[in-house]
Amino acid sequence: MINAAMVKELNAQINAELYSAYLYLAMAAWFEADNWPGFAHWMKVQAKEEQEHAMKIYEYVNDRGGRVVLDAIEAPASKWKDAHAAFEAVLKHERHVTSLIHKLVAVADKLKDTATSIFLQWFVNEQVEEEKNADELVQILARIKGSPNGLFMLDRQLGKRED
Ligand code: FEO
Repeated sequence: MINAAMVKELNAQINAELYSAYLYLAMAAWFEADNWPGFAHWMKVQAKEEQEHAMKIYEYVNDRGGRVVLDAIEAPASKWKDAHAAFEAVLKHERHVTSLIHKLVAVADKLKDTATSIFLQWFVNEQVEEEKNADELVQILARIKGSPNGLFMLDRQLGKRED
């Protein structure tokens, strides 16, 4: 049976992942309202991914005989200065999530919960990918410097994201 302190931390992470989904959905809605369908699509795919992250932890807690308890999800922002600022916010948020995952690993290690440590390795790797993707887009947007042509092309490209 999984340690109650570990379950509490994993429940907090479910909340953090659902907040991430909410944040990216808020960004999708903001892009949608400004007629950037590609950026909105990218954010919706990202939001769906975050829900999957939450469900991965949900299933794991149940599999280990723990009890999932859901908390309120904080309201995300509803507007950003521009696309560059929005993706900078994505990168900042993903760095924050990475630190949360690393803290979870530290708790699992302290509790000698090897199964949870191994389970969390997937998230450690996923965060490397998440930060890399956000960082690339921040750099591209910095290069574009708000040029309508550049934004249009990037919107087309991001509209093709599959997962
Ligand atoms: Fe589930 Fe983007 O971290």
